[in-house]
Amino acid sequence: MLCLGIETSCDETALALVRDGRVVDTELASQADLHALFGGVVPELASREHYRFIGALYDALMARTGLSIADVDVVAVTRGPGLLGALLVGVAFAKALALGANKPLVAVNHLHAHLLAAEVEQPIPYPSVGLLVSGGHTHIYRMDNPVSFTLLGRTLDDAAGEACDKFAKMLGLPYPGGVLLDRLACSGTPDPSLFPRPYVHTDNLDFSFSGLKTAAAQYLALHPERAAEARKAAQGVPSPVLCDLCASFLSAVADTLRRKLEKAFAAAPGSFRGLVAAGGVAANTQVRAAMRALAEAEGVQLVLPSLPLCTDNAVMVALAGERSAQQGRGHRLDFAAVPRGRRLPCDEEALRPPLPGNFGEGAI
Ligand code: KG4
Ligand code: ZN
Repeated sequence: MLCLGIETSCDETALALVRDGRVVDTELASQADLHALFGGVVPELASREHYRFIGALYDALMARTGLSIADVDVVAVTRGPGLLGALLVGVAFAKALALGANKPLVAVNHLHAHLLAAEVEQPIPYPSVGLLVSGGHTHIYRMDNPVSFTLLGRTLDDAAGEACDKFAKMLGLPYPGGVLLDRLACSGTPDPSLFPRPYVHTDNLDFSFSGLKTAAAQYLALHPERAAEARKAAQGVPSPVLCDLCASFLSAVADTLRRKLEKAFAAAPGSFRGLVAAGGVAANTQVRAAMRALAEAEGVQLVLPSLPLCTDNAVMVALAGERSAQQGRGHRLDFAAVPRGRRLPCDEEALRPPLPGNFGEGAI
């Protein structure tokens, strides 16, 4: 089965072709440099950039592979959660392709796609505990099979990646700061007493990262000399203070994630075979080390996507689409895109090519 995946939920325009679980080829245009000028993603600009690039990326992907829409068996597209205007560009493009070429459509949950991404590299053992940790979400799932995930816990406020990006901003580092914190932290020494592990003593599997962000802001305010030295270092004046602060902050993030995941395993002893960590923050060196240690302690298989598959990409969308299609499940042409914060509907139907005239609320 050849599946075309389309991803436009935030600031990456990405397309990928996946055949029977293997990557055929990919195209990706990142808008990170543009949004860096504004210190974060500007939704209207993101939509415009997706609109500007998606057609050319599609043409380049098809030209390079020598394939055409006639060869594609299923069109899969991220339907949410994400920025609505950004999602609509990909969704409209996918619907037009599917309608024009009479191909079945799958509307993909971006979060589930992140968790499945690693399956192009190694099989995921089921059931697994799944940690999705990105710029917009920090969720723990029970993953029973490739199309059945149950949410066990979630952040009540900031996502871990959002906290990283905000801490980086406090230090004067450009957006998106998470990856820069990671690089600096690799040369630093973490002080585990510097920042709290927020919300770890509760008996649920929820997170609260806004407390960590506030604690970090207070630390910088209470230590103006260290803060000034770190900010100078962020502008290129060498100092170990910045690297140590980054290492301490990221160790608090990694430790918090590990301690909540321990609770997930403790809540159902012996019932999981794997631990999957996915999303942009799963690219982090300290988070990856914490996941390795946890999987070893729990005696389960660790599944970590390679770095390009941690951040937003279309391979994961194509793969999730293929998994649904293999189960014979897809979506009508009138499925709606879903912005962040809204629940994704369960509106799957039997997989079939879209019928002309099958428009309804949400269709474009
Ligand atoms: O999954 P993703 O690409 O997009 C969302 O769906 O949010 O995740 C982006 C987030 C950003 O907050 C970014 O700073 C963070 O992942 N991130 C990292 C690293 N690479 C990306 N955070 C820490 N260390 C990294 N190496
Ligand atoms: Zn994402």
